[in-house]
Amino acid sequence: MSTVDLPLLPLGRGRDLDTERGVECPGDLPEASDPALVARARAAKEALGERVFVLGHHYQRDEVIQFADVTGDSFKLARDAAARPEAEFIVFCGVHFMAESADILTADHQQVVLPDLAAGCSMADMARLAQVEDAWDALTAAGVADSVVPVTYMNSSADIKGFVGRHDGVVCTSSNAETALDWAFAQKPDAKVLFLPDQHLGRNTAVLEMGFSLDDCVVWNPLLPGGGLTEQQLRDARMILWRGHCSVHGRFSADVVDELRAKDPDVQILVHPECTHDVVLRADLIGSTEFIIKTIEAAEPGSHWAIGTELNLVKRLAAAHPDKTISFLDRNVCYCSTMNRIDLPHLVWALESLVAGQVVNRIEVDPETERWARIALQRMLDLPGKSHKD
Ligand code: 13P
Ligand code: SF4
Repeated sequence: MSTVDLPLLPLGRGRDLDTERGVECPGDLPEASDPALVARARAAKEALGERVFVLGHHYQRDEVIQFADVTGDSFKLARDAAARPEAEFIVFCGVHFMAESADILTADHQQVVLPDLAAGCSMADMARLAQVEDAWDALTAAGVADSVVPVTYMNSSADIKGFVGRHDGVVCTSSNAETALDWAFAQKPDAKVLFLPDQHLGRNTAVLEMGFSLDDCVVWNPLLPGGGLTEQQLRDARMILWRGHCSVHGRFSADVVDELRAKDPDVQILVHPECTHDVVLRADLIGSTEFIIKTIEAAEPGSHWAIGTELNLVKRLAAAHPDKTISFLDRNVCYCSTMNRIDLPHLVWALESLVAGQVVNRIEVDPETERWARIALQRMLDLPGKSHKD
């Protein structure tokens, strides 16, 4: 097993271009207190016109989302980026792995910009290529690699998507994980899935949507020799779950669900599948950010909801639906700190630089990685229909 050190760097400091953790941005950022920031962003966007297309993930701040040409979950944004060949610049207000996916899916003449390179994702950082290659070697040694189909969540680096493409696997998002797993299990007679990097999305989908038992799942710990599993465990498992998680959704807890239900028997619990299995088991509804939005839009006036996903989105939903009671499923404030790195000063800086003819913070995946990652992403885009979770 190769030695892989994974100390999380303080966000926005340090330099490690091979990870999702981010680096400092070059150049002079406008002051956050500048009262002209909104006008400056508007003017820069107008000056760029059709040359720029701004994508905004649902977890972005309000100050940023107001400038997005489209908003969406990671699946919708990947599709939207691919459908805009006329835009010379794609400004991605989201995190690094999303900008990489946009670069992979867009044409060579299109340049993808991430306004702050420190907008990484701690979950994506939990699976590094060297670790995944070690795991594959162990699966080969256990005699099971031939029956394993790798499936990676969109929330992974481009080189992990490339690995999955090279090994005949597929990318999924939280809105199509079940469809992607159906596809994977249909690829081989005794197929097993290596699911990267979010153990919770993998477990929740396999057990709650597809009828697998918890005993069908094992967890591969990349920090332990052999993943901490015996060869027999690898042979017996149907789902080999990578030991990664989202630090934001991992905070929601079953006791808060119980507490809210005791206080308000009418409350409906709506959570993202990145939440832990015990939280998801207690929820009324589970789905991607796009599903969460549609559910609230369709909800009866007067209905009560507690939502387990990132706080920017929950606050926006509460503001947009004053006729419904919407609360956050945690006692504490819980933003995704890396999503929040994209703020108005960074957006203004990125847009004004483009107006001045300078492309800053370009996200560019190397051609070999891109070739294989595109195959895995395209398999996802070609999956039949969409899950009911969209
Ligand atoms: P979706 O956009 O697929 O709902 O994922 C949520 C998330 O954590 C994005 O980082
Ligand atoms: Fe990563 Fe979780 Fe933040 Fe999404 S919400 S970017 S999975 S840390």
